[in-house]
Amino acid sequence: FGAHACRKLIGARYFNKGYGSEGLDTKAPEFNTPRDNEGHGTHTLSTAGGSAVPGASVFGFGNGTASGGSPRAHVAAYRVCYKPVNGSSCFEADILAAFDAAIHDGVHVLSVSLGNDGEPYDYFDDAISIGSFHAVRRGISVVCSAGNSGPKPSSISNLAPWVFTVGASTMDREFPSYVVFNGTKIKGQSMSETSLKGKESYPMIDSAEAAAPGRAVDDAKICLQGSLDPEKVKGKIVVCLRGTSARVAKGLTVLQAGGAAMVLANDAASGNEIIADAHLLPATHIRHSDGLTLYNYLKSAKSPEGYLEKPETILETKPAPYMAAFSSQGPNPVNPEILKPDITAPGVSVIAAFTRAMAPTELAFDERRVAFTSMSGTSMSCPHVSGLVGLLKALHPDWSPSAIKSAMMTTAIDVDNKGESILNASLAPAGPFAYGAGHVWPSRSMNPGLVYDLGPDHYLDFLCALKYNATVLSMFNGEPYKCPEKAPKIEDLNYPSITVVNLTASGAMVKRTVKNVGSPCKYKAMVRQPAGVHVTVSPDVMEFGKKGEEKTFEVKFETKNAKLAKNYAFGA
Ligand SMILES: *[C@@H]1O[C@H](CO)[C@@H](O)[C@H](O)[C@H]1NC(C)=O
Ligand SMILES: *[C@@H]1O[C@H](CO)[C@@H](O)[C@H](O)[C@H]1NC(C)=O
Ligand SMILES: *[C@@H]1O[C@H](CO)[C@@H](O)[C@H](O)[C@H]1NC(C)=O
Ligand SMILES: *[C@@H]1O[C@H](CO)[C@@H](O)[C@H](O)[C@H]1NC(C)=O
Ligand SMILES: *[C@@H]1O[C@H](CO)[C@@H](O)[C@H](O)[C@H]1NC(C)=O
Ligand SMILES: *[C@@H]1O[C@H](CO)[C@@H](O)[C@H](O)[C@H]1NC(C)=O
Repeated sequence: FGAHACRKLIGARYFNKGYGSEGLDTKAPEFNTPRDNEGHGTHTLSTAGGSAVPGASVFGFGNGTASGGSPRAHVAAYRVCYKPVNGSSCFEADILAAFDAAIHDGVHVLSVSLGNDGEPYDYFDDAISIGSFHAVRRGISVVCSAGNSGPKPSSISNLAPWVFTVGASTMDREFPSYVVFNGTKIKGQSMSETSLKGKESYPMIDSAEAAAPGRAVDDAKICLQGSLDPEKVKGKIVVCLRGTSARVAKGLTVLQAGGAAMVLANDAASGNEIIADAHLLPATHIRHSDGLTLYNYLKSAKSPEGYLEKPETILETKPAPYMAAFSSQGPNPVNPEILKPDITAPGVSVIAAFTRAMAPTELAFDERRVAFTSMSGTSMSCPHVSGLVGLLKALHPDWSPSAIKSAMMTTAIDVDNKGESILNASLAPAGPFAYGAGHVWPSRSMNPGLVYDLGPDHYLDFLCALKYNATVLSMFNGEPYKCPEKAPKIEDLNYPSITVVNLTASGAMVKRTVKNVGSPCKYKAMVRQPAGVHVTVSPDVMEFGKKGEEKTFEVKFETKNAKLAKNYAFGA
């Protein structure tokens, strides 16, 4: 991890017996090594714990010093993913074996960029939730990705209250590459290594007008492999619609058909979410609304033409952050009383280390090899938070995983760098089902004042509240667990966020306990009322003396609006 680092210990193990037990052959050498032949693990691990490396860039884009969140941490990789079979590449038995090994090895933080994306599982049916329970009860923080199935409601995964679930948002860095036609200039994004020459115009074509003989227009529209007729696209800028196939794979389709360049236009679902990819040809990725303008031009012009400008790196862009359209969203499909995701962090066009076994497009055709590449996903936002958890552990070794999570959630920010509510990828306000408590604010999380702490017994009592039976409880606990006489309420789990489900005219009451981790201080409750709900906190003033002192307060929710039982309103 670079010459500037102090001695860094790097461990690596692999777990493939679960994969093998599915009747799959694991004899080939690529199954019997922790080596990353795919890139995802290298990228995420270096984001969490990579040492500082100056001059890191993707073909010169984003050039600067790259560093993981915990640059001085020792790191260990636990490989559990292999060639996909029927859509799964990481088997639960292997994930659990890796959790066991990591716990045994004494790691402090587990960064888990994995999940049953978009498919809710109950906690006892989900290896990550079981493995992470055992880690958290031993004081090991577990940070997980929220999934890439957004922006659909309830698409969120990794729902257990003991894991730290991270959504993905943008950062204030862009890689603009403009497409210019008929006096119109549209801003896209790209990390194409090659560019068209000068400001010479090229003929442009809608890929739907260029279907190869025998191929459906719908396939050509989204530039599926082999769907384009070389006679129609040769030497042209081809406009492809986003969807179904990988963004960079569409570029390959255009390149193989002899196209000069590609403009990739978002569909309605992906809105304004544009991603800078290391395309194989000159290319740029544009917003949905801009795509409509371009498609209109292509339709109305007799011989449409235009050009693409070379991409640049621009910093301090606004608005930032905004939510990625792909970031999975709440409400929590298993327990709506627990808000998920918990937080959001940078997950769009993240530059981190990469494997030499794979091209930056991950396409076999692409023979380029890079030390760093840009990737997007909640897999990329998760290790940002893991790295910060590592720093907080170093600063506050006595804080529990729940205290660390609370510190980061209660200091997160829900406004962007224009001072407005964090937006979604269509630039409409996003809300807590997209970003949880907000965007992580590292320096503030060092000193949150108070934390909502939780220990293993609180989580077990939460499982009692869910009416888990003795068998399942003892599997979580490792030995029989006796539930309290009076079953606790799910919403009273001492979580750093509060969700009241189905609020009716009879109102609701929720309890929370805060622990002082700062200087002696007096706190006063201030409420940003959710629309249509009256919230009171009692007591509304609490004074704390020494560190570790705990106090309990109650929050009362009242409404006259019966419709709220169906919709959510948000406050703070
Ligand atoms: C990155 O920046 C450094 C320092 O300015 C420079 O020496 C280096 O050539 C740059 N790398 C690339 C690939 O542009
Ligand atoms: C994959 O799916 C096929 C067809 O449904 C099935 O026969 C096979 O057993 C599955 N393999 C695994 C490892 O699940
Ligand atoms: C090109 O731009 C001109 C000036 O704005 C406009 O009048 C014309 O309709 C445009 N052509 C097409 C084909 O959109
Ligand atoms: C953004 O929010 C608006 C308003 O709720 C919604 O119509 C739109 O679909 C959302 N876009 C995305 C990409 O989530
Ligand atoms: C306990 O709950 C699990 C999960 O619902 C179920 O599979 C199991 O049969 C139950 N055991 C008993 C003894 O009820
Ligand atoms: C909320 O109300 C819906 C519809 O009546 C019901 O299906 C659901 O179980 C309720 N949820 C909770 C947590 O009470």
